[in-house]
Amino acid sequence: MPALPLIIDTDTGSDDAVALLLAAASGLGDIRAVTTVAGNVPVAIGTRNALISLEIAGRSDIPVHPGCERPMIRTLSSAQHVHGEDGMGDTGLPDPAKAPEPGHAIDALLSYPRDHPGELTLVTLAPLTNIAAALLRDPALFTRYRHVYCMAGAADTRGNISPTAEFNVWADPEAARIVAQAATPDKVTWIGWDVSRKDAVMTPADQQRLQQIGTPMARFAHRINRTVADWVRDVTGLAGYDLPDPIAMAVALNPGLITEQEEAHVDIAVGDEARGQMLIDRRVVAPAPNMTLVRRVDEAGFKKLLFDTVAAPVPVPASAPTIPATP
Ligand code: RIB
Ligand code: CA
Repeated sequence: MPALPLIIDTDTGSDDAVALLLAAASGLGDIRAVTTVAGNVPVAIGTRNALISLEIAGRSDIPVHPGCERPMIRTLSSAQHVHGEDGMGDTGLPDPAKAPEPGHAIDALLSYPRDHPGELTLVTLAPLTNIAAALLRDPALFTRYRHVYCMAGAADTRGNISPTAEFNVWADPEAARIVAQAATPDKVTWIGWDVSRKDAVMTPADQQRLQQIGTPMARFAHRINRTVADWVRDVTGLAGYDLPDPIAMAVALNPGLITEQEEAHVDIAVGDEARGQMLIDRRVVAPAPNMTLVRRVDEAGFKKLLFDTVAAPVPVPASAPTIPATP
């Protein structure tokens, strides 16, 4: 099967970085461009982290376009308390050799599908600010992509950043609402935190396995997620840290991993009392569905893809940052 042509929008924290490894080094993805946005960390840091992650995967040729520095209306509330000040577990990674592109992310999100109509899959791993801004300039944007997969929301369950909301939607609920209003179920699929917390939890045994693989990508993926592992244990009570962006990326790369999904009408709460809550309307009188929601994923299949990908030796360019062996 030919590799899937991809555009990836990211706020490169430690889980985004693992998703970028999957897209760049699994053989299933053909990344044409990466766009960055403020979210986990300020956009300049997220851009730096995207460049580092692509270098670790041996793909420093992939263009990275910086995007919006803040949500559409609200000020930026980062998740540095979760991912570390640098978004990568504060592991002191050296600067990337490559610089970002001069073109803005929004222009890239508009131009790539115009130049390659119906060919590109868009995967979003961050607050939806860039995507919403692009939609305001081109309301038909989603028709120009082959498909749009979003790591977004928390269907029928508590959130991770608040009792009612998942971070990507909470950080910019107005942007998420614009995306939901432009979505159709044949074009837009959301993979929420409800999936990650069930089917993408890295147990202590998984973490030990990752650490023992010992390749540059495996060492990188293990080390940068140490900070989030502590936060998840202390705040969510999960049996290990979960990988929301990697499981969303795995679904985009191989939809055969989906074991349960539904079509539903989704709106987003933008009032402060339930900021970012997914409002799934299942009433008999509900409007027609506007998106496909993935509800469960083959956990073993996802983890096999993850371990196989990071176990592969990659042609590490001389400029790539070296990750010291974990003590
Ligand atoms: O809620 C999880 C999402 O928020 C992930 O994309 C993670 O990287 C953070 O951005
Ligand atoms: Ca993210």
